Amino acid sequence: MNAQEYSAYLKNVSVLPQVEAYKRQTYALLNIREGGTYLDMGCGTGNDAMRIAELTGTTGEVIGIDTSEERLEEARVQAAPYYAKGLSIKFQHGDAHCLPFADNVFDGCRADRVFQHLQDPIQAFAEMARVAKPEGNVVISEPDWGTLRVTEPYHPLTERVFSILPNGVRNWRMGNDLFALFRHADFEIVNLTVWEDEIQNFETAKEVFRFEYLATMAMDAGVVFPQQVDEWMRTLEEAEKFCISLTMFIACGTKRRVS
Ligand SMILES: C[S@@+](CC[C@H](N)C(=O)[O-])C[C@H]1O[C@@H](n2cnc3c(N)ncnc32)[C@H](O)[C@@H]1O
Repeated sequence: MNAQEYSAYLKNVSVLPQVEAYKRQTYALLNIREGGTYLDMGCGTGNDAMRIAELTGTTGEVIGIDTSEERLEEARVQAAPYYAKGLSIKFQHGDAHCLPFADNVFDGCRADRVFQHLQDPIQAFAEMARVAKPEGNVVISEPDWGTLRVTEPYHPLTERVFSILPNGVRNWRMGNDLFALFRHADFEIVNLTVWEDEIQNFETAKEVFRFEYLATMAMDAGVVFPQQVDEWMRTLEEAEKFCISLTMFIACGTKRRVS
């Protein structure tokens, strides 16, 4: 997937009803207030930053950071109507492991499906904790790819194809590790929501979970043969009922006030 295709992919995924639902939950946990300043770490094409900006109003500010210049540029283009409404949204280059901000500046910080890719999640979390104001919330949502299941139809190859996931996602069970991450950093209130998502449309699932990419990786690794993959994909596509599920974890903690 090139940069343009990946941006389109992120946008398509973010408007799925299942994804919109858990994202709304992350905004609620962030405790967004008018006039507040919020960080979206690993903002991608900026969809969440724009939604949050609508809640902070013209007196607030939202900053999205990402390491991808292409995605940041796309975010700036998409944000034009929001700028026209007088909302303050900045998209800037930055690495999660070394945030370009002073201590205690954000009323809340969030990251959605970013920690699964990071080299050092503990360091990145320490950075989010550092830049959040005391009593500000940090909200992180991540999938646990170990929970990905095609529940209908059953096919013995599904598990074999999915067994390649650890090769494609650095911290493939990140969702499951979130609670420990917050506890380790000694946050005050840690709320963990387990969010089970289900997709019943094969074509949507094929795109969201990138079946063709996974199958190619599985073939390259010698886990499955090409003929088997064709048969597997056809069986899922032609099944009378199709259902795939994935568990997302949403963790929220409040930064302690220093006494
Ligand atoms: C799966 S996308 C999620 C994007 C967005 N949060 C969303 O929900 O649509 C992961 C994003 O994390 C960004 N990212 C990866 N490593 C990063 C890092 N070290 N610092 C900041 N952003 C990073 C990627 O460029 C990508 O845009």
